[in-house]
This record gives sequence, structure tokens and C-alpha cells, in this order.
Amino acid sequence: MPSFLIVAIDGGAASGKSSTSRALGERFNFLHVDTGSYYRAITAELLRRGLRTDQLDAVKTALPDLIFGTRVEGRAARMEIGGRVVPEPEIRGPGVTAAVSHFAAIPEVRAALLAYQRGQAEVARAHGFRGMVMEGRDIGSVIFPNADLRFFLHADVEARARRRELEGRADAVAERDRLDATRKTSPLVLASGAIDIDSTYLNLEQVVDKLSALIAEKLG
Ligand code: CDP
Repeated sequence: MPSFLIVAIDGGAASGKSSTSRALGERFNFLHVDTGSYYRAITAELLRRGLRTDQLDAVKTALPDLIFGTRVEGRAARMEIGGRVVPEPEIRGPGVTAAVSHFAAIPEVRAALLAYQRGQAEVARAHGFRGMVMEGRDIGSVIFPNADLRFFLHADVEARARRRELEGRADAVAERDRLDATRKTSPLVLASGAIDIDSTYLNLEQVVDKLSALIAEKLG
């Protein structure tokens, strides 16, 4: 029986990763790490510094200045940049949502986050969590290819776009998927060996129950 469990959840835009991961964190006392919020926080910071997604050299120069930290709030890990947690309304706003996939496609941006993301497991252990559930696009393929469990959440693109509309959030779901799946570095893929879950016709509780059963089995 593993003493500390790492669960990876990947999937496209608005596929239900965050709600599912949050619920699993509550159910099993896992730290919930939303790596999308990390890419969003970096995007917000770069935009705040006046940088655009096509200013590659300036972005590369700015990256080493960004000092990352982690604040644990309840069961959620929040990224600090220079000691500041970028507020949620800012990272979920339309400007960041439109730019994030472009910044996330820059290999140096991904490299800047690699060790930090892996280090979140130590943060979870240090805080006494039973494990960590980390969600994103490349968690099961690149960040934790040896995670105890790796899931990929699928949902029909129309169902996902509808979810965002119901939340009242402007989001080009299909366009973000296209950018994320076609970039050269760590694209969104179903990692070999990952468990593929289609949530188009499942509600949140059903998805959480499905994943919970497999996690409970691992925990013995
Ligand atoms: O809005 P949603 O929850 O679907 O997306 P998110 O998880 O907040 O991620 C925002 C964006 O960050 C994605 O569209 C990707 O471009 C990027 N991302 C990534 O490239 N790799 C990750 N591991 C997580 C997010």
C-alpha cells in the first residue's frame, strides 16, 4: 500500500478536472494542485508587466525574475509569484484566458514550471496530506509519468462549451484545445496507460465516484 498517493488528472478545457480534483482532495485528504492556475498566474504576471505572447525574447528574460512559492489554503495549493498570490478573478478573467495557451506553448515557460510542479509533492507531504491530486494537460505524460493513478477526462466539446456558458465565462474552449494539443512541447495527449473517462453523459458525482473507487482500491 503506498504511503503517499499521487493522482494525475489531465484533460481538455472545461472537461471537469478542477471540480473533480477538488472533490477528490476533500474525500481523501489530498492536496489539490491545479497546474492550469499556475499557467494562468504566470500569464497574469507577464501581462501585468506589459509583455505580449509574441515577445519571445522579453518573455524569456522575464522568467528568471519570477520567484515561485506555494501557499496552502485548506486543501488547495496556490502559487505565489514574488510572495503574491494572483487573485482568482484576475487569473480567470478573459484577458488571461485568451492568452494563457499562447504563453503555455513557449518551451521556456514550461521549463520554468517543471521542477516547481514536481516539488508540490513535497509541499503536500510536509503539510501532512495523504496524497496529492494534480490536474493539468501533461501531468500523466511529463510531470508525473509514474503517478500511482493517471486519468484523462474527456467530454464532448459542445458539452464543455455549454458548461462555460452556464458559468457565464467567455472561453474559446475548442480553440484552446487546438492550441494545447498541437504545440510541440508537452502537448495535451492521452498518455499511454492513462485511464480514459468520458464525462459527456456523467454528472460530477458520477465522475468522482468512478475515480474514487480506483483510488480507494490503491489505498487498500
Ligand atoms: O479553464 P480550464 O480549467 O479548462 O484550463 P486550465 O486548467 O485553467 O488551464 C489553462 C491553460 O493552461 C490551458 O488551456 C493550457 O494552455 C495551459 N496548461 C498547460 O499547458 N499545461 C498544464 N499542465 C495546465 C494548463
